[in-house]
Amino acid sequence: DGDVYKYYADGEWKKSASGKSVPIINPTTRKTQYKVQACTQEEVNKVMESAKAAQKSWARTPLWKRAELLHKAAAILKDHRASIAECLVKEIAKPAKDAVTEVVRSGDLVSCTAEEGVRILGEGKFLVSDSFPGNERSKYCLSSKIPLGVVLAIPPFNYPVNLAVSKIAPALIAGNSLVLKPPTQGAVSALHMIYCFHLAGFPKGLISCVTGKGSEIGDFLTMHPGVNCISFTGGDTGIAISKKAGMIPLQMELGGKDACIVLEDADLDLTAANIVKGGFSYSGQRCTAVKVVLVMESVADALVDKVKTKVAKLTVGPPEEDCDITPVVTESSANFIEGLVMDAKEKGATFCQEYRREGNLIWPLLLDHVRPDMRIAWEEPFGPILPVIRINSVEEGLHHCNASNFGLQGCVFTRDINKALMISDAMETGTVQINSAPARGPDHFPFQGLKDSGIGSQGITNSINMMTKIKSTVINLP
Ligand code: G3P
Repeated sequence: DGDVYKYYADGEWKKSASGKSVPIINPTTRKTQYKVQACTQEEVNKVMESAKAAQKSWARTPLWKRAELLHKAAAILKDHRASIAECLVKEIAKPAKDAVTEVVRSGDLVSCTAEEGVRILGEGKFLVSDSFPGNERSKYCLSSKIPLGVVLAIPPFNYPVNLAVSKIAPALIAGNSLVLKPPTQGAVSALHMIYCFHLAGFPKGLISCVTGKGSEIGDFLTMHPGVNCISFTGGDTGIAISKKAGMIPLQMELGGKDACIVLEDADLDLTAANIVKGGFSYSGQRCTAVKVVLVMESVADALVDKVKTKVAKLTVGPPEEDCDITPVVTESSANFIEGLVMDAKEKGATFCQEYRREGNLIWPLLLDHVRPDMRIAWEEPFGPILPVIRINSVEEGLHHCNASNFGLQGCVFTRDINKALMISDAMETGTVQINSAPARGPDHFPFQGLKDSGIGSQGITNSINMMTKIKSTVINLP
């Protein structure tokens, strides 16, 4: 049974009593690459108990010491970048260089969070009573931030390391304990990342990582009475979690249909470069990918030509060779993407390239003259397929953007800053990028979605604040 990766609880690597494992299919070879433990509900209960116990003394550990351990973990994580990146390549077919970038970015994120935590958790508030009508100066209020308890972190497959540490680091610096449920594709990368935290020497039970089937432990984890906060990134599951979870703070980053509005005066070379990077990086499997281009008719032909030229230069193949376009994460994902393509074909979209698929590998495809009756106009493919809708006014573009259920990010390309600001103001999304593709980073920027794209805001400061409560002590003077 040595080939099944163990889960992490109580500072130890353990086999599940279930005797069962969950296979992780390599998206490129479509064969089982790794296996992880299928943890049981009983094991989840134990993890929750340890997390609760460990949190009590962690909360009393000096802030500077918590920061020191996080800095240590960050350095170890960066040292392990090659081996973790190799797992990312095998499990989620992330191009080799991007896989290394993800790990390095994660180390930096952990360090920045430790620094920020020392600053913002190191100060509280002092209020006096006589600023409110009718009060004498007879009460002093001291308030500071305290941890919530046990934070449950559920990251998605596309950044199993980075979107795990973006939850782990703020939870820990704030004095919480942390239970990680990694995505199945990405679980071994996540276990390896957790190993770096293990090497850093955090107290036993403070960090755990449980692997297993969503059907067995998914709801059990998210509805567990021992959980005091859930930070989730992923798809529709987040909506279901938000309906079932208890009265606890939720941080959710779900899907997106990020629009790219292109005006007549845009720098078309800059725009095309951003559309290709934004639309096709990691084969479009990013919530912040450009997912629909809304271009003014007068510049549409020119823009589409430029994008086509760049798409033709994208390399397509295995992640080990650092190709731009690599196999999408699962066969069902590839089938879903193909369904969107076939729907667009039936309804008369213009194919700028021939549609091509081999296994999970889908060649990049730009669909021009997409109309609102096509599914691809609204749905999130999470694949290398990008629709172009031609518009005749800014209002038409804004209308399409705001009619979406999603509201993660959007972007606008124009040389007119006044128009850009007007569009940013009118776009119902959490962030608008002016003259660049949507992106979450740098990781200390606030990151949030409106509507079905999420609850709350992420980014280092916001996540630390979200994972704390305010506690006050009032001194009543005689
Ligand atoms: O899809 C996850 C989302 O957080 C995107 O992050 O860094 O690719 O903009 P990023």
